[in-house]
Amino acid sequence: MRTVLITGASGGLAQEMVKLLPDDQLILLGRNKEKLAQLYGNHLQAELVEIDITDVQAIEELVAELYQRYGKIDVLINNAGYGIFEDFDKISNQNIHQMFEVNTFALMNLSRLVGTRMKEIRKGHIINIVSMAGLIATGKSSLYSATKFAAIGFSNALRLELMPYGVYVTTVNPGPIRTGFFDQADPDGTYLKSVDRFLLEPDAVAKKIVKTIGKNKRELNLPALLHLAHKFYTLFPKLADKLAGETFNYK
Ligand SMILES: NC(=O)c1ccc[n+]([C@@H]2O[C@H](COP(=O)([O-])OP(=O)(O)OC[C@H]3O[C@@H](n4cnc5c(N)ncnc54)[C@H](OP(=O)(O)O)[C@@H]3O)[C@@H](O)[C@H]2O)c1
Repeated sequence: MRTVLITGASGGLAQEMVKLLPDDQLILLGRNKEKLAQLYGNHLQAELVEIDITDVQAIEELVAELYQRYGKIDVLINNAGYGIFEDFDKISNQNIHQMFEVNTFALMNLSRLVGTRMKEIRKGHIINIVSMAGLIATGKSSLYSATKFAAIGFSNALRLELMPYGVYVTTVNPGPIRTGFFDQADPDGTYLKSVDRFLLEPDAVAKKIVKTIGKNKRELNLPALLHLAHKFYTLFPKLADKLAGETFNYK
């Protein structure tokens, strides 16, 4: 049986992924055990762990203990993350540090700890849920984009280092998904309203992610239109900036 660890497990995307993994031993990390129990209390093969993923010592202890009990983690899904869509001059230094702690440093630390073990046994798959915002930067997402660009940079290098050991690293870069993410990122709903017609459904995104498990897939960029937009952004950055700043300035 595969052992799959998912962070930010109470979130919208995580809930949909869990539904698609009925036969796996799941290790679900979240900030609130009651919330986890409400969601997954009936799941027969889910270990629910209340933990602050930015607490380095707690994470190190947890990983050591999980390896003692399960002997392996086959799949690590770094899913926890949040955004604040706000002008750069309204973002505090504390915001900057906190978001990097969750979106970037925790993802790097868990990848490091679990990746080391995967490298030893020459098997495993790390799936980092990043964002289209980590490929295309737009206004009001300076901080969020920075955390996600960094996560992609780290993942791209990690993929190369783990390649000779048969360990896969996939980055998942979705556009906007209909989840609770926007309660925090966009409390007044302006952005959500303007992108409503493009919104991805979390079950569809989860299905695509789960399909990649065990496959040597570099990245999953969705929807197709934004995947194309990213190609355009890379080839014609100046024109892309003009479009992102004017026509497609949704935030
Ligand atoms: N929704 C989108 O439009 C969208 C688009 C592209 C990428 N993403 C990325 O997809 C991932 C999943 O997001 P989602 O859409 O499922 O959003 P969500 O429903 O808000 O779930 C994200 C989960 O991340 C954890 N989290 C949030 N803030 C945190 C904090 N300050 N400290 C620690 N953990 C925190 C929480 O898990 P616990 O409560 O269990 O701790 C939360 O339930 C995130 O990395 C997000 O950046 C989302």
